[in-house]
Amino acid sequence: MTSGRSFYITTPIYYPSDVPHIGHGYTTVAVDALARWHRQAGDDTWMLTGTDEHGQKMLRAAAANGATPQEWVDRLVAESWFPLLKTLDVANDDFIRTTQPRHEERVRQFVQAIHDRGYIYAGEFEALYCVGCEEFKTESEIVDGTGAFEGLKVCAIHSKPLELLQEKNYFFKLSEFTEPLLKLYAENPDFIRPESARNEVVSFVKQGLKDLSISRSTFDWGIKVPWDETHVIYVWVDALLNYATAVGFGSDPEEFARRWPAYHVVGKDILRFHAVIWPAMLMAAGVEVPRGVFAHGWLLVGGEKMSKSKLTGIAPTEITDVFGSDAYRFYFLSAIAFGQDGSFSWEDLSARYQAELANGFGNLASRTTAMIARYREGIVPPAGEETDGDRVIRETVANAVERADAAIERFRLDEAIAAIWTIVDALNLYITENEPWVLAKDEGSRSRLDTVLYTAAEGLRALAVLLSPIMPIATEKLWVGLGAAESLGRLQDQALRDAGRWGQLRPGTSVNALAPLFPRVEQPGDGQPGAAKA
Ligand code: MSP
Repeated sequence: MTSGRSFYITTPIYYPSDVPHIGHGYTTVAVDALARWHRQAGDDTWMLTGTDEHGQKMLRAAAANGATPQEWVDRLVAESWFPLLKTLDVANDDFIRTTQPRHEERVRQFVQAIHDRGYIYAGEFEALYCVGCEEFKTESEIVDGTGAFEGLKVCAIHSKPLELLQEKNYFFKLSEFTEPLLKLYAENPDFIRPESARNEVVSFVKQGLKDLSISRSTFDWGIKVPWDETHVIYVWVDALLNYATAVGFGSDPEEFARRWPAYHVVGKDILRFHAVIWPAMLMAAGVEVPRGVFAHGWLLVGGEKMSKSKLTGIAPTEITDVFGSDAYRFYFLSAIAFGQDGSFSWEDLSARYQAELANGFGNLASRTTAMIARYREGIVPPAGEETDGDRVIRETVANAVERADAAIERFRLDEAIAAIWTIVDALNLYITENEPWVLAKDEGSRSRLDTVLYTAAEGLRALAVLLSPIMPIATEKLWVGLGAAESLGRLQDQALRDAGRWGQLRPGTSVNALAPLFPRVEQPGDGQPGAAKA
């Protein structure tokens, strides 16, 4: 079902040193929803996620837990990071770990190549380093510590002390890419999105770039520099290359040509690595730059970026155990403008679950299938003559498909869901106004009732298709409930951009009993530590 148009999309690869929290889950479900949309629209789609396993942070976490770094990451990936994908119903095509040979060998090859092309030199270096960020910090990113760290210089993001590092390093001539990068941003206005992220990067690069230290010699948990095995490659250079090594860079030219270049979705905390260093590395190697980088905002808890190190981390299972994975996906993707920060609160999640999912979408599905069962013995009737009100529904559906697809092109999942939700609202209003329970009492309104039931069922058919990338579980249940699985085939095979073509659900289809898509939940969030509204 592929159109040939390649769509390769990635999440950041996560540090497995901590257990996943809802911030990691947010990026992952956003990328999964975008990938599912494109896959179902027939694009030649590939979704990659994975873990970033080298570096000092990992080495220290392992030591603190009395394990070797490899044992430590193996355990965390198996116990926490693979299960996260199941918890959130993520349909990734691949999962890369930076300790895999397929990655390590190609990283060495890449670094050797840019060395051979004259972009690497040896030098002395002294600067303040944040192990939390795995990054050297410039003055504007350093603040005075408070509390236990009074009198020390701390990282503005982690609020933890910085370390003065002084060593011989290898450097990448990033400074030579100031102009080429500015040209790239100017010629491809969509290279960095949203606009605010783009502006921030452009003004940063305009100040001129400094060369980048790309090796470390004080520890050895990393990939060895090919020409000097006393050094390991800087963890960010190693990590960024995952996007290329996972799709055959250096090993499978055909696969690489098919997939590359990628779209990268990242939190705004790591935008510069992706929009500055990464394209410069690729330019140095003579490899095509990414298609684009989309930076989303932070989930805030209590007004601050939610993070494990600040003890505001909430595990995704705390939400999915109560509300289910569909609600998790729907809530974060619809309630937050993709690209901006958003405050998480249990009250907001619970209110939206009730209003939009249980009462809005879920109830529409239950009552439509129940009425077909009650009034038409479970058989979808044929529509009679179309009235203005029916036409409005048909047009609402067609418009929603176009608007949602256009929003997805801009990575605006929230706008896509809002467009699709116009169908939910229009259908609920349609049922209220047409009062099928009144029509059912009057034999003379038989044909009119047929039309109303058909219109509601066909609208739900479109909703199931359009919402399946966002809520794969509930839409699958609805698909079965509508009897569409037998007559139209699998939900994931329904052409998404064709979802607005009216009349696909065949009259004569038998509907099946439908359990509530979004059951009542008992007092969610009671006593949860993250319950504060930011
Ligand atoms: N390992 C690096 C990325 C390397 S990519 C080549 C890293 N890992 S991380 O585990 O710290 O994950 C960072 C990503 O997790 C962020 O970019 C973002 O996508 C997500 N988030 C982490 N905390 C978040 C919030 N509080 N809110 C939203 N997203 C968050 O950085």
